[in-house]
Amino acid sequence: GRPDTRTPTGAETGAPPTAYGQQGAFLTTAQGARLRDTDHSLKAGPRGPILLQDHHFREKITHFDHERIPERVVHARGAGAHGVFTSYGSAANLTCAGFLREKGKETEVFVRFSTVLGSRGSADTVRDTRGFATKFYTDEGTFDLVGNNMPVFFIQDAIKFPDIVHAAKWHPDREIPQAQSAHDTFWDFVSLHTEAQHHTMWNMSDRGIPRSFRTMEGFGVHTFRLVDDAGGTVLVKFHWKPKLGVHSLVWEEAQLASGVDPDFHRRDLYDSIEAGAYPEWELGLQVFPDTPEETFAGIDLLDPTKVVPEELAPVQPVGKLVLNRAPTNFHAEVEQVAFHLGNLVPGIDVTNDPLLQGRLFSYLDTQLTRLAGPNFPQIPINRPHAPVNDMLRDGFHQHAVHSGVAPYKPNSLDGGNPFPTGENAFLDVPVTVTEAPKVRDLPVSFKDHFSQVRLFWLSMSPVEREHIIRAYTFELSKCYHQEIRERQLLCLANIDPVLCERVAAGLGLPAPEPAIPLADVTPSPALSQIGRQWPAD
Ligand code: HEM
Repeated sequence: GRPDTRTPTGAETGAPPTAYGQQGAFLTTAQGARLRDTDHSLKAGPRGPILLQDHHFREKITHFDHERIPERVVHARGAGAHGVFTSYGSAANLTCAGFLREKGKETEVFVRFSTVLGSRGSADTVRDTRGFATKFYTDEGTFDLVGNNMPVFFIQDAIKFPDIVHAAKWHPDREIPQAQSAHDTFWDFVSLHTEAQHHTMWNMSDRGIPRSFRTMEGFGVHTFRLVDDAGGTVLVKFHWKPKLGVHSLVWEEAQLASGVDPDFHRRDLYDSIEAGAYPEWELGLQVFPDTPEETFAGIDLLDPTKVVPEELAPVQPVGKLVLNRAPTNFHAEVEQVAFHLGNLVPGIDVTNDPLLQGRLFSYLDTQLTRLAGPNFPQIPINRPHAPVNDMLRDGFHQHAVHSGVAPYKPNSLDGGNPFPTGENAFLDVPVTVTEAPKVRDLPVSFKDHFSQVRLFWLSMSPVEREHIIRAYTFELSKCYHQEIRERQLLCLANIDPVLCERVAAGLGLPAPEPAIPLADVTPSPALSQIGRQWPAD
């Protein structure tokens, strides 16, 4: 391996270790001066005011005053755990990524599950999408798979992300509702930006109220590109399949749990790990040929509002994830972990999905604020387990004491350091970029917003459909604006007449006629299983 030029401060200065676990025999200031009393401030007499000179008081209160860091701008509420990923070796012919290629290879991971909309202190069992973000600490660098428990997303272009988040989070006047999609701006957005209808139906289905984190599927959503040793490529979608199967709460349970135990999901995660019932998932791939069109069975693989039904492209298992260790310090691990889609390893590359492309910018950018500067990769939970030899220097919260005088490559001063060989290096796949002119637009195929929503609806069992109808009716009944309810009913008319009629009846409104002929959005009968959790009744 390459040398790690980042020397910990202690080793450089000969400082003794610090007692970080409250166990030391005596109490000190942050500067190591021993204290005799931390319960009384220094005053001008027992009844007098506190003296400004009380350095211990000022240090203790000042540090407390700055204990909180900003919560994530989305996915603020989460819980995480450590674990191990074991490769089956079955992807060896698809990728040169070592952690997937070598059979039996074990890689340490950290996973963070989250809701999207609520603040850090909000309830776990609200109706929402769930984040499922995995950090693989591979020998070849860190790979982050930053996915959700639903295979599609609300929007097709990252430039709309601030808009959907402004619409879906609390109203800016009263900060209500805290954590759910039961309000006017949410339904206003999804009925105007109809590409959001597919993800919205997943939210209204039982997938929106999972039973536990360990009974959720996970999806990388976007299509990625795998590269093998010879430079050959395939397009893939990542799937996590829970060993316990997919299970949901019913709405009444979810509401009760929100009040009785807002920590329902994180408690389940930590209790099951403590009991030795380690949560497990299989990682699987849907694999597609890497053609210039980037489509499969007529489905545009760059459109993140579309799935490829598993009947057409079965999910092929490539490894197993076991979560076996709860965090010992929530702030250090769960709060400070920083995922980023640009954390890629040799053998895995991105595609031009315009949502994925924007995410490549956003995560690192937000973390510069959330984790206060550019050196957060040095926070223990974010440190790669592969050797690091970067030329990044200085900056706020720099903890490394770098040696040498020539932080650039190649140089002739630090031991005659040659230009890096590039051995086992990350390869940007040299895909051809179109000669078409620059445009602010999307491909025509992205304009179909309803056929896959109907596909999802038709795949549901009767009880699942009943839950979806009730969810739309309940959530839309929280909308104050009649025109927004009516506009959403028009979207439902484009998906299915029965769905539309039932929700309209529940809201006491007439069911509108569809704007798109049903035949135009009806999928082939062979595709019937895309979102089903249970066998047909
Ligand atoms: C956070 C997933 C789209 C910006 C997250 C997290 C997940 C996630 C799982 C939480 C990570 C954690 O646990 O720390 C997704 C998925 C998307 C998507 C699956 C679509 C397929 C987007 C887009 C943007 C975006 C389009 C912006 C253009 C962010 C930001 C955070 C975040 C800023 C907070 C990150 C942090 O503070 O560390 N996302 N996201 N996301 N996402 Fe996304």
